[in-house]
Amino acid sequence: MTVGIDKIGFFTSNYYLDMTDLANARGEDPNKYLIGIGQQQQAVIPPTQDVVTMAANAAEKILTESDKHDIDMVIFGTETGIDNSKSAAIYVQSLLGISSRARSFEIKQACYGGTAGVQMAADHIAMHPESKVLVLAADIARYGIGTPGEVTQGGGAIAMLLSANPSILALDNQSTFHSENIMDFWRPFYKREAIVDGHYSTNIYIDFFNQTFKDYCQKYHRNLNDFAAIAYHLPFTKMGLKALRTVITEDAHSQQLLKEFDASKRYNALVGNLYTGSLYLSLLSLLANSTDLKAGDRIGLFSYGSGAQGEFYSGTISDGMHADKMADEFESVIADRVRLSVSEYEKMYADGLPTTGGDVTFDSANDPSRFIVLGRQADQLVYKDQKG
Ligand code: COA
Repeated sequence: MTVGIDKIGFFTSNYYLDMTDLANARGEDPNKYLIGIGQQQQAVIPPTQDVVTMAANAAEKILTESDKHDIDMVIFGTETGIDNSKSAAIYVQSLLGISSRARSFEIKQACYGGTAGVQMAADHIAMHPESKVLVLAADIARYGIGTPGEVTQGGGAIAMLLSANPSILALDNQSTFHSENIMDFWRPFYKREAIVDGHYSTNIYIDFFNQTFKDYCQKYHRNLNDFAAIAYHLPFTKMGLKALRTVITEDAHSQQLLKEFDASKRYNALVGNLYTGSLYLSLLSLLANSTDLKAGDRIGLFSYGSGAQGEFYSGTISDGMHADKMADEFESVIADRVRLSVSEYEKMYADGLPTTGGDVTFDSANDPSRFIVLGRQADQLVYKDQKG
């Protein structure tokens, strides 16, 4: 029996900002954003979407009624939680009509939460092969108007169904991890924006990649040639490229890994940072856009969550993986996105639930998504299924 990712769903909002427009507004050369940082567009999240609705929108497209019945665990990785106590997972479970005979909870370690969920899900299924686990990874990346981090914002959700004998990626059950108390990126309770030292964070990310990759190769007697591709956590696409460059050479296999990296970054360059979901959007991009990968190929995955936790693990592409299906999953979400001007984006960025409390109702006329946030009444978030 193998265990791994059986289905992947993706969602982001229907608004985006073009990075050339942003560069012009901030007095930067567009090539700094497009080439130097490697971002082309970024999702802009309206107040009618939060991590609950984005995750529900991502999951509803992949789950059948039978999946909803079989799921016995819902794990939500996020660093954009919507309540200090109650988990976002419970809301999604309820919105989607997933069996109430399930464990449902949220986990946090910056951008690492999705991977913690995947590993916990895999362990659970190994013990209980009939189980299916829904792992959700959703976030809204905010650094602030006019900050250096602004070009690396974004948002969206990944939903993954893990099961025995998966159709997409069978995990090898081989991983190595590294954690240290580091202040490269964090978000105090009172702030909607992260505090980040981006250059320091990039260096730590590269160090953690090198450490976990070296440990993995030693522990499992593997080397670079054993990987047909490596997918990275991509807060901005240049970050993964910098890490990959530290382990490749001039040989043909290294050039192939660079080619696969190009496939793996394509979607992230159009959506921006998803924090917990970024590695898995990159995996989706790799599987959808690679022209060479085939069933049986081993993929390495590097996960990083500031603060900081790193993990390198691997999986093998399953027979049932269809690149066209992966591409459709993404294209259908971003096909009709509306391009915002910089001033429209700045206005939307300032909108949202007042941090001081109070009732609020959002204008939802322009949000065509199935699940939306209507607002807040008597300190309770109000969600709506627009199909229901
Ligand atoms: N054409 C092409 N490239 C250009 C350029 C131009 N005109 N101008 C600058 N560049 C390149 C720089 O050489 C640099 O490339 P390098 O990193 O390969 O050396 C890159 O663009 C970025 O320039 P830099 O001056 O370093 O940008 P910055 O100081 O504005 O900061 C980040 C960039 C990424 C550090 C910043 O956006 C940030 O902090 N983002 C948040 C990162 C994050 O989320 N970290 C935590 C999560 S893990």
